[in-house]
Formats: sequence, structure tokens, C-alpha cells
Amino acid sequence: MILQSIAKVTTESTSIYIGYANTNWQSLGFNAPETRYITEQIKNENPLISINRYDSLSLIAIAKVAKTNTQNLEAHRIAGAETSKQLNLLKIKTATLQNTLGSDKTAESLAFAEGMLLANYQFLKYKKDAAKEKNSFETLNIHLNTAKENKVTELLHLTEAVYAARNLVNEPLSYLTAEQMSEEIQLLGKIADFKVKVFNKKKIQQLKMGGLLAVNAGSQDPPTFSILEWKPKNASNKQPIILVGKGVVYDTGGLSLKPTANSMDFMKCDMGGAAAVIGAIYAAAKNKLPLHIIGLVPATDNRPGENAYVPGDVITMHSGLTVEVLNTDAEGRMILADALSYAQQYDPELVIDIATLTGSAVMAIGSQGMLLMGNADENTKQNIKTVGYQVHERLVEMPLWEEYNEQIKSDIADIKNVGGKTAGAITAAMFLQNFTKYPWLHIDAASMAWNHGKHPYQLKNGTGAGVRLLYGFLKNRANQE
Ligand code: BES
Ligand code: ZN
Ligand code: ZN
Repeated sequence: MILQSIAKVTTESTSIYIGYANTNWQSLGFNAPETRYITEQIKNENPLISINRYDSLSLIAIAKVAKTNTQNLEAHRIAGAETSKQLNLLKIKTATLQNTLGSDKTAESLAFAEGMLLANYQFLKYKKDAAKEKNSFETLNIHLNTAKENKVTELLHLTEAVYAARNLVNEPLSYLTAEQMSEEIQLLGKIADFKVKVFNKKKIQQLKMGGLLAVNAGSQDPPTFSILEWKPKNASNKQPIILVGKGVVYDTGGLSLKPTANSMDFMKCDMGGAAAVIGAIYAAAKNKLPLHIIGLVPATDNRPGENAYVPGDVITMHSGLTVEVLNTDAEGRMILADALSYAQQYDPELVIDIATLTGSAVMAIGSQGMLLMGNADENTKQNIKTVGYQVHERLVEMPLWEEYNEQIKSDIADIKNVGGKTAGAITAAMFLQNFTKYPWLHIDAASMAWNHGKHPYQLKNGTGAGVRLLYGFLKNRANQE
């Protein structure tokens, strides 16, 4: 996908106009009969109107005017998504977003372009006829007066990051083992210029990451622990911000095996948190955010092999705490716990973990948002929630009341890895909290990492959810001082 700023407006190729019911079409160069036609189509609630002249095609996308600013941005993303679908149907390669909204509506124009780009994603790696199935649309020109060049470049990099995250989620275990994911992280690090260090099984053993090793015990493939670092000279923070992503490349449930239909069959998405962290750091590095950021990705598959950890096992974690395992399917918290206690040595300003952690989160919120928990200050929580609304990766906060600790008390170890039938997303977070000694936020992304149905621009399957949220949060933090 190519996205570029252009200085000269041209109407020779396909032009895209963003409009509203009250737009003055004649001032945009449409003649009287065309204006009549457009007005009629708007009355008929046609959201995408074509004006076909002998030498050019104009697509007019009518964005719904919404009540709030953030709903308005989302309406523009959706209108953009529908427009790129139409361009592909018409087999069009290049289109120019005309400067219809002007400089006071840059955010809307950029949201529209964002929807166009995000909707144009495909995962064709395993298709024989990939060339035939490939979308025609590949270049979007944006007029310089519509959005400044640096904003356009930033959007392009962010889209690349979402694409990379979606690719990782869509890759099956037959390709994306833990070791392969670390390879991919290194490749992305080379492209975006962030540093990557990968610990192998031996090093993980030396570090006594008992949680990660326990989950890995039933697997044929070794675990990895990847450290991503973006540390520009002009970083505005002294203590780093750390992002931790759950990297379970496949979750069978282990010996507490999941049923296949509707629960295990999409479990290649269980590294969606890792993909969000990788994408956010990719975007931060490509856009040269003046912020010191570290990403931690513990990775393994969760399998019921011969040596698999069993319900009843007691595991000594990296932090020294002991955990009684009562369900091997609650594996995400086991590997995250080790990464969270490993994070302590960096003396972080803030640690955010993101994980496809619980079915309980899916039950609570469906695919419309993600759950936020943690003990960071109210201001930080408010900041990330606000970004969530802006990028439409919305967050709802759940409480971490002391009383929930009762649910994870163990008879024989310090804590147990399951909290019973109720409040599953919360007790998972309460478990994680035992491994944090710094301001911390936890995002349960199980609800949004994978899309079973259609969505205008997240599409089906891997969504890349979390990339735009984390990047938006980091960007605001970078610009704070
Ligand atoms: N990976 C799953 C959670 C999940 C569910 C991700 C749906 C994406 C979509 C996680 O490891 C899991 O199995 N959690 C269990 C925990 C339980 C055994 C305490 C769950 O939520 O059922
Ligand atoms: Zn599980
Ligand atoms: Zn899992």
C-alpha cells in the first residue's frame, strides 16, 4: 500500500470526495445535473455515490454526522473502508482524496484515509492464486492542503504496524512457533530500527522463569523471551515505559484441553497481545517518538505433550512466588507473571501488559471493546481510556478490589492460577498484580484480537487491535513534556 502527499490536485484519475448531506457540490466542481443526482442519491441514503465522466470517475462518500467527536471520526473511518472496497470492486489502482473538507477537518480526512488503508489489508500468503485475488487498490494520494505531509507519513507507518500485527496473528502455528515469532520481531526491528534481544530456552532456564517453562513443558518447540527496545537520544522520559505482550503462539489449553469447535480453532490468535506490543513499538520507532520504550514478549505454545505441566503442580515463578496450577488453560498469566517481574529491573515509569487472557472478558464486553485494569494513577487511566475512544479501541475499567484476592488463595502455594466461576477477567488481573511493584495497567484483549464476523476495517480474523491504542497513548505521553 502506498500513501503519499501530493501538491497538485488532479481530476484525471479516480477522485474521492468526502461529503455530508449539506455539502455544496457545485463549489466542488460538480455541474447542475450532477448536483441534482448527488442530492437525490443522498436522499435515498446511498453512502457512496459514483459520478462517471468520460475521462474520470468520482466517488463521493457520505459520512454520517455523529453526535460526538469520536463517533464522528469512526463514521469517517467506516466511510473510508467502504470506499476502498468499492475501488477494489471497480479494479482501480490509484485514487486521490480531494481536498473537500479543508484544513479545519484534518482529523476527519485522516480518519477516512485510515479506514481506506485498514480495510485494504489481505493475508494471501498461503493462496495459490494470490495474484488474482490481490486487491487492485494500491496507491492513495492525499492533497497537501488536506493533511500535512508528516501526518500522512505517520498514518502510513501506523498502518504498516497494524498490518504487521495482523500478519502475525493470522500466521498459523505451523509457521509461527515461538522461535519464528522472535525471528519476525528481529526482522521488524531491522526495518523500523529498534533493538531486539532474544533469550533462548537455556537463558530462560538460567533466569528461572518458572511460569514460561511450565507452560512450555508439554511442547516440542522451545520457548523464547524477546526484548524490544526503542531508545532515542531525545527521549523525554528518564524511566522507560514497558509494554508486555502475551505471546502464546497457540493455546490448546494443555492437559485441561479446550474443546475444538468454537474455542480452540482460532487459538492461533493467543499471541494477539504480543502482536499489539510489536506493532506499537514498530510504529513508535518508525515515527521516531521521543520516548524510551521497552517491549517484553514471553512466547510459547501451550500443549498437552508428555512432560506437560499438570493440574495440581506447584511452580516457582521468576519472582520467587509459588503458584498452584489448577487449570493448565490459565497459561497466559503464568508467562506474563514472569515477564512482569522481569520488568522490575528497568525501574519503569509504567508497565502496560496486553493479553488475550480470558473468555470472561469476551463474555463481559463482546467485540466492542477491551477490559482495562490496574493500579496506575487515575490520570494515566483516563489518558488511555480517552485514546481508546479516539481510535475506537475502547476500554472499560474493571475493579481490582482487595476482596477478589480470596478467590486466588491456594491451600499449598502462595497463590493459585484460577479464581473460580465469577469475575474471571478480574481474578486473572489480581493474579498478575502479585508480580508488579510499579505503576501498572493490564488490558484484556481476548474480546478484540480476533474477529469472527465482518467489520468494515478490522475485517475478519486477526484485527491488530491494541496497536493503534498503545501507539496513541505513547504518542500523547511523548508530547507531554
Ligand atoms: N487464551 C485463552 C483466553 C481466550 C478466550 C482468548 C477467547 C481469546 C478468545 C486463555 O488462555 C484461557 O483459556 N483462559 C481461561 C482461563 C480459565 C481456565 C481460568 C478462560 O478464560 O476460560
Ligand atoms: Zn488458555
Ligand atoms: Zn491463552
